[in-house]
Amino acid sequence: MSNNKLTVIDREGSTHHLEWEPDQTLMEALRDNDLSVLASCGGTASCATCHVFVEKEVFDTLGERSEDELELLVEAEEYRECGSRLSCQLDFSRHLNGATVILAPEE
Ligand code: FES
Repeated sequence: MSNNKLTVIDREGSTHHLEWEPDQTLMEALRDNDLSVLASCGGTASCATCHVFVEKEVFDTLGERSEDELELLVEAEEYRECGSRLSCQLDFSRHLNGATVILAPEE
């Protein structure tokens, strides 16, 4: 499987282009490309420091958020009912090839 290409907007509004490898979660792809994603829980859906926003068209293809994920997200200051995801809970998906991902503000 080939890599996904992503556009990422960081918290300063700068644009980054990166490749997301099939064996990575989205959080790992962001972190491994030096974006400031703290991921302090290591990807177990318990810190929300990997919060990102995705576009509605993409969001709709990703399936339901788990109860744990949603519980953390609704507590986040900038929670978006349509768009907020924990990037550690997103496995590689072709639906995200070419997508734009925005880093949510730090909690
Ligand atoms: S890395 Fe902690 S919730 Fe995603």
